[in-house]
Amino acid sequence: MDLIRCRGELKRLDSLRGLDPLCFVPTMGALHAGHLDLVKRAKAHGPTVVSIFVNPMQFGPGEDFDRYPRNLDDDLILLAPLGVDAVFVPAVAEMYARPDGVSVRAGARAAGLCGARRPGHFDGVVTVVAKLFHMVRPDIAVFGRKDAQQCLVIEEMVRDLAMGIRLLDVPTVRADDGLAMSSRNRFLDAVDRGRALALSRALGAAHRAIEEGERGIAVLEDLMALELADVDVVDYASVLSVPELERAESASGRLLLAIAAHVGPTRLIDNLVLEVDGNIVRETPLLEG
Ligand code: PAF
Repeated sequence: MDLIRCRGELKRLDSLRGLDPLCFVPTMGALHAGHLDLVKRAKAHGPTVVSIFVNPMQFGPGEDFDRYPRNLDDDLILLAPLGVDAVFVPAVAEMYARPDGVSVRAGARAAGLCGARRPGHFDGVVTVVAKLFHMVRPDIAVFGRKDAQQCLVIEEMVRDLAMGIRLLDVPTVRADDGLAMSSRNRFLDAVDRGRALALSRALGAAHRAIEEGERGIAVLEDLMALELADVDVVDYASVLSVPELERAESASGRLLLAIAAHVGPTRLIDNLVLEVDGNIVRETPLLEG
């Protein structure tokens, strides 16, 4: 596993370019089972590069950039057995040489949900992902479906800037009790971890209601809100159309059920992507692939 720390060393990735597509998994480290699934999916397509970079530009003032977990040694131990070909671990100065450098502005899909709650967050995400894409030059990039809005915002950038990279999204990995894997789960104490189950419970309640025939968006959002009564702050619990993330008129077609909530000092997100076609309701990928 080649450890690459600066742009000059990225030339070594050329030895991985060949018949099979070069695959890329961008991460911020603090890897868990969800990330490992992204890597396994990437490896099924071709040689795989993982980046580990906690991107300051996607954190707002007062957010958890400083306390975001950083465990490079542990991350490398998890990646090595998966046959990862290279890990790119740039320093902040490598990614942001000048404070007033060129950046990317996220498109319309970034307007609501986390984009509304965390101003500038998705500009930070698309800027760093665009830089990483230009540095690594992958054929395929793999993202976690748990960050559903992020997947769709990046897809919009790749389309609008004609980047020609195929994007894949991988289903959310959950603990046995339903909690979605997240690097931030390690901030939850035992009590908050129990309260955090409200997010997956709320999604489950809305999912069941849709399966039972409920199509009213307000009814579904109320159901989710009811399950979330015990968390500290609910940023949103919404049902939106996919891929444009607009308010759905009724629960049909492709839908994103999305929740962000604060449990103690920790902000968590979770979601479910459904395809509702008449009476048939099934989970579905977000990205066309
Ligand atoms: O999902 C993440 O970990 C980050 O937002 C990403 C895509 C690596 C960009 O910093």
